[in-house]
Amino acid sequence: MKTYKIAVIPGDGTGPEVVDEGLKVLSAAAQKCGFKYTPTKFDFGGERYLRTKEVLPKSAVKDMQKFDAIFLGAIGHPEVKPGILEKGILLKLRFDLDQYINLRPVQLFDERFCPIKNKKPEDIDFIVVRENSEGLYKGLGEFQNKGKKNEVALQISHNTRKGVERCLRYAFETAQKRKRKQLTLCGKTNVLTFAWDLWERTFHELAKEYPDVKTDYAHVDATTMWFVKNPEWFDVIVTDNMFGDIITDLGAMIQGGMGIAAGGNINPKGVSMFEPIGGSAPKYTGKKVINPLAAVCAGAMLLDQLGENKAARMIEASVKKIVRTKLKDLAAGKMGYSTPEVGDLVVENL
Ligand code: IPM
Ligand code: MN
Repeated sequence: MKTYKIAVIPGDGTGPEVVDEGLKVLSAAAQKCGFKYTPTKFDFGGERYLRTKEVLPKSAVKDMQKFDAIFLGAIGHPEVKPGILEKGILLKLRFDLDQYINLRPVQLFDERFCPIKNKKPEDIDFIVVRENSEGLYKGLGEFQNKGKKNEVALQISHNTRKGVERCLRYAFETAQKRKRKQLTLCGKTNVLTFAWDLWERTFHELAKEYPDVKTDYAHVDATTMWFVKNPEWFDVIVTDNMFGDIITDLGAMIQGGMGIAAGGNINPKGVSMFEPIGGSAPKYTGKKVINPLAAVCAGAMLLDQLGENKAARMIEASVKKIVRTKLKDLAAGKMGYSTPEVGDLVVENL
C-alpha cells in the first residue's frame, strides 16, 4: 500500500486543534481510497521558542526535505514580538524549501456565508497564484540615519526574471487545467514601473506559449474592487508576494471567512506545505470553538499535490455538503458544533 510521510507542525494557538481534525479527516479518506500516511510531529512555534530561545532548530529544513509533504496549523504567539516567528519559521520554511507558489483557492460553498449580497457559489470560484519567494518579502532594505529626524527606511521589492517566469508558468498551467482557462495578471503597472514592467513583459511573452489561455490584466486596487463587485469575472489570478497576501485575505472573506480558507506553499519539484490561511487565534485557543474546515481543506490540497486526487475531491465534497446542510455559521463559536464535531461531520459524509 502506498504510504506517505507527512511532517506535521501543529504550531501555536488553535493550530493544534485544527490540525487534529485535519489529520482525522486525512486518515478516514486514506482508508477509503486505499493509501496510508505516517505523521511525524514537530513542535516548532511560540512555546518552543519561549522555552529554548531558538526559533527553528538548525536541522529543520533538512528534516523537512525527508517528507512527502508538510501540514501546518498556525504560527504566531501573543508573548512573542510580531515578526520573529513569522519570519523565523513560516517564511524561512517557504524560502528555504523554495516553495515559490502560494496557491489560494477562493470558493464559496454556500451563499448564506457570503458577505456580498446576491452572490452564489458559481459566482465565487477562482484561485490566486501568489508568488511566494521574492518581492517585498525578500527582506531587502536598510535604515539610513536610524532614529534621527532625517531617517529613511528602504524596503525593496526584489523580482527576478527567473522567479517571475516560474510563477507565471505555474499560473498559466493552472489556468489550462480549468474550465474557463482565464488568467488575470494583478499588478500595479501604472506606478511600480520597474517590477511590473518585468512581470507584464514576461506575462505577454509566455502567453504566446499558452494560446488556449485567455489573458487579462487588472491593477491591484481595482482587483479588490472587482472582488466585491464582480468576483465572477475571475478564474485564475497571478500576482506578486505582497499583493497576493493582501488580496487573499479579502478572498477569504468573500468565500465565507478565515474558517474555510486554505492554502498551499508549493514547490512543484520539492516538498510543499499546506496550511489554513488564518492565524493562531489566541483568544479561542483550547475552547474547541474554532472552525477546522480551513485545515481540512488544506489537507485536501495536500492530497492533490501527492496525486491522491480522488481522496481530495471526496473531502471537498464532504466539506461542501456539511457547510450547506449542517453548519449554522462558519465563524468561531457560531457553527452550532464544536471543533471535533465538525471534523466528525466531515468524516461521516465522506
Ligand atoms: C499569510 C500570512 C503570512 C504572510 C505572515 C504570517 C508572515 O499573512 O500566510 O498570508 O504574510 O505571508
Ligand atoms: Mn496573509
